[in-house]
Amino acid sequence: MIKRKNIIKIAIDSPAAAGAGTQAKLISKHYNLLQLDTGRIYRYVANIKINEPEKFNYKYLKKKISNLRISSLHSKKLLSDEVATIASIIAKDIKIRKLVNTFQLKCAYSPPNKYAGSCLDGRDIGSVIVPDANVKLFITANLKTRSLRRYKELRLKNKNVSYQEVFKSLKKRDKNDKNRKISPLKKTNDSILINTTNLSIRRCFLKIKKIIDRKIII
Ligand code: C5P
Repeated sequence: MIKRKNIIKIAIDSPAAAGAGTQAKLISKHYNLLQLDTGRIYRYVANIKINEPEKFNYKYLKKKISNLRISSLHSKKLLSDEVATIASIIAKDIKIRKLVNTFQLKCAYSPPNKYAGSCLDGRDIGSVIVPDANVKLFITANLKTRSLRRYKELRLKNKNVSYQEVFKSLKKRDKNDKNRKISPLKKTNDSILINTTNLSIRRCFLKIKKIIDRKIII
């Protein structure tokens, strides 16, 4: 892979439903960056495990990931709680992480020329995938707030879940993601903490924009 020089790289890490995806979209649009929600790749792999269990092996996954297009990651099928739970289980597998990493590195360091850079969000972006990012953010919010946001989001999509179920599932996923041996979710020393518990989407974006503008001269 040939890395593009002088591009802007933004790395965002966060637990589930903290608002990182929403901010990543706004940032990418504002600064003209290729946006990649890296959780979607783990969800994509989880979806293969659920729907094509007989084909679920490293060779097949390698082929699927090398032909993967970002547009395939927007499928609505990937949004369910079942997919998310399986994603956080398969995300512990180092061989799967390695396959997923190649795709992430390509997006982060070699985005198409029409973009000024890249913005990736996930769990290990600032720590493992883009350690030399221009700006690293760690976006979080308390578990109750995150559960309520995710619950409302799922209800809007007509998913039949209770708040308690969402709360329990996020709590379990937090535990899985923070405590796993490989690439756990953690804040790096050089990342900036943004707590969105009491921040509107707009106020949060303005705060982040200020940080980015200060770090990169446009
Ligand atoms: O962000 P999202 O909730 O879609 O991620 C689904 C799961 O994928 C997470 O719970 C986590 O286990 C895994 N993941 C990861 N590393 C990333 C992004 C997601 O392990 N960079």
